[in-house]
This record gives sequence, structure tokens and C-alpha cells, in this order.
Amino acid sequence: DRSAALAQIEGLIRDVPDFPKPGIIFKDITPLLGDAKGFALAIDLMAADLGHLKPEYIVGTESRGFIFGAALAYELGAGFIPVRKPGKLPAAVHSCEYDLEYGTDAVEVHRDALQHGARTLIVDDLLATGGTARATGELLRRLGADLLGYAFLIELAFLNGRQQMADAPVQSLIIIE
Ligand code: PRP
Ligand code: MG
Repeated sequence: DRSAALAQIEGLIRDVPDFPKPGIIFKDITPLLGDAKGFALAIDLMAADLGHLKPEYIVGTESRGFIFGAALAYELGAGFIPVRKPGKLPAAVHSCEYDLEYGTDAVEVHRDALQHGARTLIVDDLLATGGTARATGELLRRLGADLLGYAFLIELAFLNGRQQMADAPVQSLIIIE
């Protein structure tokens, strides 16, 4: 059943203390990705939760968002749109900066990635502070997408990242309080 499946997935996410810096506990998804049954279970559960939204496009943010986003796009019969770090996309882009703990980063999307009003869902592996997802959402607003929601494998609820996404519903498979 669902709770056993969730427990199996959670068991394949490894806590790595003090990465990338002291005091941070990194949620490592590589054991999940490497486990054929576990990875399929995670995609199947996310697809079951999100399929009713009938997205025409899944947007995945470089780089871990590509892994879950592409698999979900295939499973839901949607197209996949990569949102990339600066300088990677070859044609004309929209760009959106977001704050890091020290400094800023940016994400980009092709200006012709989708048609105005297209039903679109943002997918990433992790919701932490929400900076990455908020910037990705801003790109989709500039494209005129119909933003259906934000979907994550894992949400670190204690960081309150969800508050940054007032424009569409947030759905996470695993919520860590
Ligand atoms: C991680 C993770 C999310 C983001 C979440 O990506 O994959 O995209 O951080 O953090 P936030 O909610 O505070 O923005 P990262 O930038 O480490 O790059 P990666 O996906 O290439 O590993
Ligand atoms: Mg990422």
C-alpha cells in the first residue's frame, strides 16, 4: 500500500551529515535512483498524485529536476522542458535570478519552449528554501504558461519554502517536518 511504498522510498534516501558544509544534512537521492524498484515506485506515486492535472508539459530544473521531471513526463504523456543554469540553452532565453545564501544564481528557459496558456507543471527533487522553484515559476509566468503546480519528491518543511509559491499549489511526496 501507499504508506509501505513511501517508507520504502524514504529508506532509499540517505542523510549525509555536513554536506556541502558543516551543520547541513544533505538528502542524497542516489540510492533511490540506483534502486530499480524504488525509483519506479517514486515515479509511479508522483504520477498517481499529479496525473489528474493533465499537464501538457513538465518543467524540470537542472540538474536533479531533469531526472524526476523527464521520467514523469514520459509516464504522464507530457513534453519535457528543461530549465537550465545560465549559458547552457542555445536559443533566445528568459532569465531569472534567485538568491543563494551567499550571492545569486540564475535559471533560464527558451522563449519559445511552449505555447501561451499551455498546461504546465514544475517538478524538482527537493523543495528547500524555495528559491529555485520560485525562479522557475517566474520564468513560466513570463512564457504565459498555465502553471498547474509545483511537485517535489522531498520537501524540507522546516525551511518554509512553500511560502514562496503563492501562485500555484505545491505537492510533495515526502514531507520532512
Ligand atoms: C538543489 C535541489 C533543488 C534545490 C532546492 O539543487 O535539486 O533544485 O537545490 O533548494 P532551494 O529550494 O533552496 O532552492 P542544486 O541547486 O543543488 O543543483 P542540482 O540539482 O544540480 O544538484
Ligand atoms: Mg536542483
